[in-house]
Amino acid sequence: MELSLSFGPFSLLFMILVFSIGNTSIIHASSDSYLTLDYYASTCPTVFEIIRKQTECAVLSDPRSAALIVRLHFHDCFVQGCDGSVLLDDTVTLKGEKTASPNIHSLKGFDLIDGIKNMVESECPGVVSCADILTIAARDAVILVGGPYWDVPVGRKDSITANYALADTNIPTANEGLIPIISKFMYQGLSVKDMVALAGAHTIGMARCENFRDRIYGDFRATSGLNPISASYLSSLRSICPPIHGGENNITAMDNVTPNIFDNSFYHTLLKGEGLLSSDQEMYSSMFSIQTRELVKLYATDPLAFFNQFSESMVKMGNITNSESFANGEVRKNCRFINT
Ligand code: HEM
Ligand SMILES: *[C@@H]1O[C@H](CO)[C@@H](O)[C@H](O)[C@H]1NC(C)=O
Ligand SMILES: *[C@@H]1O[C@H](CO)[C@@H](O)[C@H](O)[C@H]1NC(C)=O
Repeated sequence: MELSLSFGPFSLLFMILVFSIGNTSIIHASSDSYLTLDYYASTCPTVFEIIRKQTECAVLSDPRSAALIVRLHFHDCFVQGCDGSVLLDDTVTLKGEKTASPNIHSLKGFDLIDGIKNMVESECPGVVSCADILTIAARDAVILVGGPYWDVPVGRKDSITANYALADTNIPTANEGLIPIISKFMYQGLSVKDMVALAGAHTIGMARCENFRDRIYGDFRATSGLNPISASYLSSLRSICPPIHGGENNITAMDNVTPNIFDNSFYHTLLKGEGLLSSDQEMYSSMFSIQTRELVKLYATDPLAFFNQFSESMVKMGNITNSESFANGEVRKNCRFINT
């Protein structure tokens, strides 16, 4: 794999941590907050049902909706905790996160969350936060495309701020190396194990040419070998994504075997060296992948181990809270704007 690492003291520190303490997290997803399963039991007893129905409609009419919602939740949680900050539109007084580089032209599905929010508001006005709606919908989306069930702790508040700069710095990107990506997960209190399992979300959804161009004209051939099947997959990828200009927004599935099913076949693509994103393939092929490679192999051979770890890691990711939003947050009426 391409070595895009800088060996500053920072990365070295992380390497030592990664290889010595393994999957122990550095920072605890901390705050005074805590989430519970029955937070809405008396104030909005039907909330889980409403969200499931709405999510089901969205996923039935377009299976990609599941991927859009899951990714929105991830991008929400990695920027000042799971507080609905990613859902805020730009206004004259607030710069949202939607135009930050990992998000622009890429994050979609905001209208789906608006739709769910409207239904929840008509049943229980002013009670359920957008951050909780997104978290619950992400769980439902996963189930609807064949993935595991887990209980969703709730009680999040919506932020009254967003952070464009943090969206740029905290969210990992496709051409980043393995060690910097691990360090971004650790910064959130998530372990290497969490990272490898959560990246398994790429078993659904699509990526745009600009995010896999360097990979398909870079080391794809080296990782996937010279067999005819890989070669023809590579040439079909190149046919939708030219080497220099054009087709930036052309999309293809990250799991080309079962693109709309939440299963473990994403990990099989990595074993074959056919990962679409460089960041994904690095988990198996990077020279630093000693620990991640074993996890990729485990999840490829044991789908239940993947489902169990994915569920646990989603709860952990959903637990990244920001004490600021917890203390000063609100339940937005409209997920796109703070209340006036
Ligand atoms: C490990 C680091 C990760 C990197 C570098 C990464 C990067 C990316 C990139 C570049 C795309 C394609 C976006 C586009 O081309 O517009 C993508 C799509 C996606 N990501 Fe990740 N991602 C990571 C982890 C995660 C995690 C933790 C989740 C959720 C648990 C997730 C869920 C998704 C989903 C569902 C899609 C498909 C969205 C769609 O169909 O539009 N990703 N990711
Ligand atoms: C969630 O965070 C709280 C507070 O930081 C912590 O006490 C709790 O153990 C965490 N729960 C999970 C499942 O990680
Ligand atoms: C974008 O993809 C389509 C097929 O889906 C292809 O015909 C077109 O040539 C691609 N665009 C570029 C610039 O390669």
